[in-house]
Amino acid sequence: MATKTQYVCSDCGANSAKWSGQCTDCGAWNTYTEFAIKAKPSSRQGFAGATQATVIPLSEVESELCERLPTGVSELNRVLGSGLVPGSVVLIGGDPGIGKSTLLLQTTAELAKQYSTLYVTGEESLAQVGLRAERLDLKSAPVQLLAETEVETIISIAQQQKPKILVIDSIQTVFTQQLTSAPGCVAQVRESAQLLVQFAKATGTALFLVGHVNKDGAIAGPRVLEHMVDTVLYFEGQKDSRFRILRAVKNRFGAVNEMGIFAMTDKGLKGVSHPSAIFLTRQTPTPGTTVTATWEGSRPMLLEVQALVADSMLENPRRVSVGIDPNRLALLLAVMTRHGGIVMGQMDVFLNVVGGVRISETGADLAIMAAVISSFKNKLVDPHTLIFGEVGLGGEIRPVQGGQERIKEAAKHGFKRAIVPKANATACDDIEVCIVNTVQEALEYF
Ligand code: TYD
Ligand code: MG
Repeated sequence: MATKTQYVCSDCGANSAKWSGQCTDCGAWNTYTEFAIKAKPSSRQGFAGATQATVIPLSEVESELCERLPTGVSELNRVLGSGLVPGSVVLIGGDPGIGKSTLLLQTTAELAKQYSTLYVTGEESLAQVGLRAERLDLKSAPVQLLAETEVETIISIAQQQKPKILVIDSIQTVFTQQLTSAPGCVAQVRESAQLLVQFAKATGTALFLVGHVNKDGAIAGPRVLEHMVDTVLYFEGQKDSRFRILRAVKNRFGAVNEMGIFAMTDKGLKGVSHPSAIFLTRQTPTPGTTVTATWEGSRPMLLEVQALVADSMLENPRRVSVGIDPNRLALLLAVMTRHGGIVMGQMDVFLNVVGGVRISETGADLAIMAAVISSFKNKLVDPHTLIFGEVGLGGEIRPVQGGQERIKEAAKHGFKRAIVPKANATACDDIEVCIVNTVQEALEYF
């Protein structure tokens, strides 16, 4: 078989026939790595797993192909979209030590009660996995373990064992004989993943791949890894917090904004089904703290937002935000200056979402603004007030999705008042609902 050399950008996964210093697709420097590919025989199977090309009407697609395997871990089911789809490939990324192996071992043990499973560990020895299983009280679970990193061997063993669920921990440790480069490099990760994905699609095996993240928080290896799989989940959380959030960033079989919440305990990960109760710590109220309700996926969640505004000693005052996009903070500060007349040009602004949660929707805008103003004026916002709404560049307060659910969630937790955009105002028995249309109007409350 002829061998061809190609170059692959380790940032975006773009291919190029010749090397250059800068990737022509994404513009990154020094990211092209050499990648020798053997010409594949043309009888190679397609991704969709069809051995013969046939055309069938959509209505005749067998629904068994759409069956779902409940994983037994309810928060994971929620993120996957009510269970695991056979033949689907799920990539789980996260910082080292966040709990990826723990989550997958627990999930595999649950799945093993009903289905055959194979857990391939390339990162840890069998003894290490055994020790973890002992800590998690899963020693007796009928999980099949394999310590192997060569993808051809993994696939041939999987062909004999025929597991319904295959876990590869992690894809960066796996390599293929077809390439000479070291495991973990772009070409190896990409090629090994490709072989495993093909195996999963052809046999209907549900495949979990663990992926490491690089310092920017993206899954290491080329972006193509994300294109190849059906679902990409990120497992995240702050190092000092015991809460972990599983977030779908791509999902061919469910909603992408869905979030699963876990707490890391000495007995492994436990799902948190009522997150509001956990993230509202309810310390003594201080200026700069407000409560908002986010709507991620299919449930509302109450979160505390904290801001600290202080005179700056620096020429360029600091703008630090944890849990919220810094650009969003800059935008809100500009709106406050322009439409609220609040000038913070000479002040440092720090913002934090309590509990290590990251807010990715705009519903928290008004609460962020309220927290900043509250700290700026050193004036308390009543701790039993819920605040949500999107802030527009024109200083208008815009409605957000799931208003009623957010208000109800607050009422359930004993909140007395909700400050919301007009279109989100719904009458609720135990809570007074105040409407704000503009930043100016909102300022009367904070
Ligand atoms: P691990 O699953 O090994 O992380 P990853 O595979 O993402 O690198 O998680 C390891 C961390 O979890 C480690 O810091 C210890 C902690 N941990 C617990 O707190 N309780 C437990 O029961 C287990 C198994 C791990
Ligand atoms: Mg691990």
